[in-house]
Amino acid sequence: MPHLLSILDVRNDFEKIIDDAINMKKNGYEKVLKDKILAMIFEKSSTRTRISFEAAMQKLGGYPIFLSKNDIQLGRGETIEDTAKVLSRYTDIIMYRAYSHKNMVELAKNSSIPVINGLDDEEHPCQVIADFMTIKEKKGNLKKLKMVYFGDGDNNMAHSLMLASAISNIEMKIVSPKKYWPKQDYIEMVRKLDGKVEIEEMNDEASKEADVIVTDTWVSMGNESEKQVRIKEFNGYTVTEEIMEKAKPDAIFMHCLPAYYGYEVTKEVAHGKQSVIFDEAENRMWAQMAILKWVMKKL
Ligand code: CP
Ligand code: NVA
Repeated sequence: MPHLLSILDVRNDFEKIIDDAINMKKNGYEKVLKDKILAMIFEKSSTRTRISFEAAMQKLGGYPIFLSKNDIQLGRGETIEDTAKVLSRYTDIIMYRAYSHKNMVELAKNSSIPVINGLDDEEHPCQVIADFMTIKEKKGNLKKLKMVYFGDGDNNMAHSLMLASAISNIEMKIVSPKKYWPKQDYIEMVRKLDGKVEIEEMNDEASKEADVIVTDTWVSMGNESEKQVRIKEFNGYTVTEEIMEKAKPDAIFMHCLPAYYGYEVTKEVAHGKQSVIFDEAENRMWAQMAILKWVMKKL
């Protein structure tokens, strides 16, 4: 059963999925998921993931159903196991945005149809597939590139970017306050993939030689109670024009969005000439189409 719970689940087909997404964007697509149904369970808010999955499914001829956790019995205590078993009888694919990766795995374990991780506390694989698609479009290939990620080094985006970089042989650096360095498990996973990740605190040379500069919110969904502490602890880690100027002249700026201007990035950088944030957002839809095809063995 092809589930996409982690970037590692697509490691053998990573570039194939990206190339299919680029190809559909350029040359069009066929309705290969005609009459298939996608159930989407959201425990957290979403703009991009929800709309891009809805658009992707409709473009491929299928039908998406949006299920907010509080509108279904899951929100009143029905188990994940029973929810998975019931949805498997009506629909063909489940996309789940969850607070906990443990629940994501539990849903997949009890589902007889493919499950796609639409973000949890450990990973955001769909976003990172769209991000690498964007890098390939902008840079022509994924070879010999250096990515520098600023901010929360231990959140879902940092984890999935580390794994995707290792799979693609992109050199990665995480620039983060020590308290927010990635968990040892992820560093080990990168090593096992023969990947390269450097981790350091903010310094004057942090963005030197970077082809890609990335950041994400300092306060992920689920961390709201730590907001004031985090804003203090991440002080000095904002991606500014000065950081962009020290990178390669053709470096691109990426952010999965939503962005909080003045915190992890200035509005000048995010809306500046090196920024590709809205291409990245658009590419969620093309990448989602390729992911839906992959889980349905239509790629
Ligand atoms: N980047 C992303 O996943 O955005 P949403 O939270 O709006 O889905
Ligand atoms: N790290 C962020 C990503 C949002 C798309 C979060 O989990 O809130």
